[in-house]
Amino acid sequence: MLTSAGWLLQRIVMLLSLAAGIIVYSPWLLVVLILSVLPAFLVESHFAFLGYNLAHEMTPTRRRLDYYLLLASRKETAKEMKVFALANYLEGKYSEASNDIILKHRQLASRRLIWGALFAVLASTAYYGCYAFIARQAFLQNMSMGTFTFMVGAIGGASGHLQMIFTLFSSIADQALFLGDLMLFFEEKPSIDFSRSTAIPPRPLQNGIVFEDVSFQYPGNEKPTLNQLSFRLDKGMRFALVGENGEGKTTIVKLMARLYEPTSGRILLDGRDLKDYNVDELRKEIGVIFQDFIRYDLSARENIAVGDISRLSDDEGLWEASHKSNAFELVEGFPERLDQMLGRRFDGGVDLSGGEWQRLALARAYLRHSQILILDEPTAALDPMAEHEVFQKFAELTSDKLALFISHRFSTVRMADRILVLSQGKISQEGTHDELVHADGLYAQLFEAQASSYR
Ligand SMILES: Nc1ncnc2c1ncn2[C@@H]1O[C@H](COP(=O)(O)OP(=O)(O)OP(=O)(O)O)[C@@H](O)[C@H]1O
Ligand SMILES: [Mg+2]
Repeated sequence: MLTSAGWLLQRIVMLLSLAAGIIVYSPWLLVVLILSVLPAFLVESHFAFLGYNLAHEMTPTRRRLDYYLLLASRKETAKEMKVFALANYLEGKYSEASNDIILKHRQLASRRLIWGALFAVLASTAYYGCYAFIARQAFLQNMSMGTFTFMVGAIGGASGHLQMIFTLFSSIADQALFLGDLMLFFEEKPSIDFSRSTAIPPRPLQNGIVFEDVSFQYPGNEKPTLNQLSFRLDKGMRFALVGENGEGKTTIVKLMARLYEPTSGRILLDGRDLKDYNVDELRKEIGVIFQDFIRYDLSARENIAVGDISRLSDDEGLWEASHKSNAFELVEGFPERLDQMLGRRFDGGVDLSGGEWQRLALARAYLRHSQILILDEPTAALDPMAEHEVFQKFAELTSDKLALFISHRFSTVRMADRILVLSQGKISQEGTHDELVHADGLYAQLFEAQASSYR
């Protein structure tokens, strides 16, 4: 837009100098020239606006196209695309969506072309009319040869500048429409207000975390996920959270990290509402590995150091973390050890198994010196031996910290000091493994369902 604006200015200055000459001879010629390009300009602007509206209307379709393209071209999706033979199906969907876009654009382009051509003829007629007029004046010897030569050049130049001015102007107007969208986007405010959150979390932690009647409903969902949930997590203990799929375990973690805010109720850290704490400082104290952790196509070093990126060059710390998460041997076995490139996106990268990636991801939590450690299904992809070792190390580590892990494996869950059972948005049971197995309830049922298949 800025470049166009510069050109526009340049053209206007050039037009003005020629216009001055034309006006001296005949102001009407200038008026005719301007009027002749005006309709074409109005038509252009009108169609630019329609084009913008079409782009808006087609945005969801274009996003679908992007997604199909992504599905068809990523390494992560390649296995299923091939095994389920989805190429033709996806291609069909892609064609359908892109044909829709092409058709609508073609219709618009045809109309633009017809109207544009019509008014271009009008402009040309006026332009040559002006030439005819001065040619006639020269023929009738009302005009000197010098004036005639000047006027021929001036009319040609002025007409060219005028057309360019209108073209530049409409392109600026066109882009300004999209600029409006950008401004709207910049005006978006985050739905969580962090401005009055300034307190620093206590170090060391005195008590722990308390959920007080916390309810939570995702925006757009009909039913609340958490319903007046209350429980406490005391420091120095290892808690396990169990519950069936979709009960809201991960949601609880998101609330603790203030990725969302409770719809009602409070979450307290050492007696103070989470809302009071500076969010960056709070997140420093929370080391969380989500169940859908990211496999970075970066070096092994970076894959671990994302847990605390300020320690990227702290080799000793990185090795120690890899040791705790059972990734030590894996990293040591790489030809380039910590600096081994991972993933297949870049040259020289090696791909890992699901469990190997998970060990690396776990190391992130150990690298981070946070007081609250949360592992959401940290061992789902680990083999039983690795899982056992990970939890041995987890136990050593957490004496002055608060640890919460979420797992569907009772071999893991039973090692917790305290187990919370989440059901229908509430904590329905709480206790040690032994207490809960002997109590009549959901935990005993879930445990029995898993244990029976091992007998
Ligand atoms: N971003 C979201 N927007 C809307 N609804 C969501 C969102 N994330 C989760 N949900 C819904 O909230 C409910 C709880 O999801 P959550 O991920 O917390 O379950 P979970 O207990 O961790 O399950 P799992 O054992 O499968 O990991 C689910 O019914 C899910 O549909
Ligand atoms: Mg979950």
